Amino acid sequence: MTIKGFPNNFLWGGATAANQLEGGWNLGGKGPSIADMFTGGNKDRARRITPELEADTFYPNHEAVDFYHHYKEDIRLFAEMGFKAYRFSIAWSRIFPTGEETEPNREGLEFYHNVLDELEKYGIEPIVTMSHYENPFQLTKTYGGWDNRKLIDIFMPYAECILREYQDRVTYWILFNEINLLTQPMGGYFAGGMILEGVENEEERRYQAMHNQLVASAKTVKLGKSISESFQFGCMIAYVGAYALTCKPEDVRAQQRTDQIHNCIAGDVHVRGQYPAFAHRFFAEKNIDINMQPEDEQILQDGVVDYYTFSYYTTNCVAENPEGAKVSGNGSGGLMNPYLKNSDWGWPIDPEGIRWALNNIHDRYQLPTMIVENGLGAVDVVEEDGSINDDYRIAYLGAHIEQMKEAVKDGVNLIGYMPWGCIDLVSASTGEMKKRYGFIYVDKHDDGSGDFGRKKKKSFEWYKKVIASNGELLENEAQ
Ligand code: BG6
Repeated sequence: MTIKGFPNNFLWGGATAANQLEGGWNLGGKGPSIADMFTGGNKDRARRITPELEADTFYPNHEAVDFYHHYKEDIRLFAEMGFKAYRFSIAWSRIFPTGEETEPNREGLEFYHNVLDELEKYGIEPIVTMSHYENPFQLTKTYGGWDNRKLIDIFMPYAECILREYQDRVTYWILFNEINLLTQPMGGYFAGGMILEGVENEEERRYQAMHNQLVASAKTVKLGKSISESFQFGCMIAYVGAYALTCKPEDVRAQQRTDQIHNCIAGDVHVRGQYPAFAHRFFAEKNIDINMQPEDEQILQDGVVDYYTFSYYTTNCVAENPEGAKVSGNGSGGLMNPYLKNSDWGWPIDPEGIRWALNNIHDRYQLPTMIVENGLGAVDVVEEDGSINDDYRIAYLGAHIEQMKEAVKDGVNLIGYMPWGCIDLVSASTGEMKKRYGFIYVDKHDDGSGDFGRKKKKSFEWYKKVIASNGELLENEAQ
């Protein structure tokens, strides 16, 4: 029997999010989202959220990389690379500026029709995230964020509006980006739209927010299926693989627990329609008392997802007594792995880990699976001749794709790969432009300077060959 690599209809593409890409934060009737209230930062200086905009403070998401005015050029470049699919998010506050209008903002809806027109022109399949860290900020002011159950009722008209509006144009929907970041402190702002500094029951409120989003997700799936039978709904998990630091049984158990809490609670509810047994014990031991309504059980069961998507950047180590050097890494922290090197932002680089993650996910859920984020945040240098030689990015992505191919040969039903920030954009964790992920460079910098000019990096031509060869030409071969 021949063991084959990527299937012929594999979806090669790239991923972005509205708040980090579009700019035009107050154009076309858009209201401010929580992302618009974040200042810049860097790896040593955290971003600040300001309840009101401060004069003389730079807010990097306001202009971002101005996709709002460059989308035609950008999508043409994606098409030139051979993208089969493109993952982007709809900014909720472009459609409902405060979240609570009774009528949607037509100009916002038209913007995404224009984006979809361009994608259609090049035969690129849209993959649309409904909520990617961009709650209308008014909802934070009025209700505090997703820990308030009221948000479910406010989200549903938005979900219904975009599902109906784009029903003939979009098949693949992604519900809440990295919903499981709500198991981590940083997830409060990003995933939950909440400001929880100094709040006593901070952890409980994050899990409440996750529950409310899981209920909203399930309701959206049920509603969506009544609008169009062709819709496919995916969950989105920030998958951070955890290894036991040693083979000491207590460390191995600590690893299992971390994996269960961080990676599995939200995924299990999305896929299986109920909380796993270990979650109940975890909540009880932590005194986390989630307000679940009697009808929630049925709602969750009725709205399970069709496919599983996740982001993968890194792994870390876990020990019973976590002493030692810590790493950064997609909200997760954890201990340094002595066998791995870290990126310049302290995220361990672990291509083997993506095969391990894919096998774990497949064993647990047996669903079609898509990697909707992966990549290396790095500093890029524009040489005097204008070239950008990002060999480090090619090495990172090539090694990960090689391991994805192994996972496909292992039998994983992997249907697509969307590297993150296929065009440079604002970093979510640090607010920097300096931390770049793209195949396409954007002339925009952390002091606000730059003319938004686009330039192909070396990885642009490389990825084009990877796609053309359906993942056969990697690393040096494709350069
Ligand atoms: C994921 C998010 O957590 O990681 C993205 O979904 C984010 O929004 C990406 O940009 C990379 O993280 P960062 O902090 O380097 O931008």
